[in-house]
Amino acid sequence: MRQKLVAGNWKMHGGLATNQDLLQAIVAGSAVLRGVSVAVFVPYPYLFQAQSILSATPVAWGAQNVSEYPQGAYTGEVSVSMLQDFACRYVLVGHSERRSIYGESDAVVAEKFSLALSSGLLPVLCVGETLSERESGATIQVVSSQIRAVLDKVGVTAFSTAVVAYEPVWAIGTGRTASSEQAQEVHAAIRALIASFDPEVAQKLQILYGGSVKPSNAAELFAMPDIDGGLVGGASLVAADFLAICSAAVC
Ligand code: 13P
Repeated sequence: MRQKLVAGNWKMHGGLATNQDLLQAIVAGSAVLRGVSVAVFVPYPYLFQAQSILSATPVAWGAQNVSEYPQGAYTGEVSVSMLQDFACRYVLVGHSERRSIYGESDAVVAEKFSLALSSGLLPVLCVGETLSERESGATIQVVSSQIRAVLDKVGVTAFSTAVVAYEPVWAIGTGRTASSEQAQEVHAAIRALIASFDPEVAQKLQILYGGSVKPSNAAELFAMPDIDGGLVGGASLVAADFLAICSAAVC
């Protein structure tokens, strides 16, 4: 059986004092959880703080983005080796906010995925359709082509050390969650796509759901056969809510 993973994506929120309280509460509250992995994606400046507080704990940490270049004259960018300096386990690639606000293409996302993976980081590939794409019946096609862009570059074996997060854009930060059936349908399609290249890799692949995950809907989502946990935005900033979501992933 696949281990569940619940990860908090803090986005551009936080500060030294509030982070400390939040991280300590997560460490304390998650210590009693069995069979679920917990991670936080913090803004770059707080990676050192996350490393300091989380190092000797089971809670993992990672960054929300990374450069597609290994080093060089790329003002404002952060490289994979810099993330490794702070012992990141994971890195998000292709979050819809990166795609839509910063214009990251499938090709750029594939570069980031590839570079992260070759450096020993676990990339969390975010995919998802907009509301108009869903309404026009293009959901599976959109999500498949986002994944194909990465598959074509790195090959299916790369997915044995990666995570996929399905985050419908219309459900992010809107309070409008995909129903567990809607999410399951897409998760199953993602797994089937990977299985068409390698069934064993597909069986092991963790596929997270993201988009207005809350304590009130987490258990129902996580009960679906192809939903292996969650990528949580807003609710991950409140320790009690995030921990309640983590508890919902305990089998
Ligand atoms: P919300 O949980 O705030 O909808 O955000 C989801 C998300 O984008 C996680 O990456």
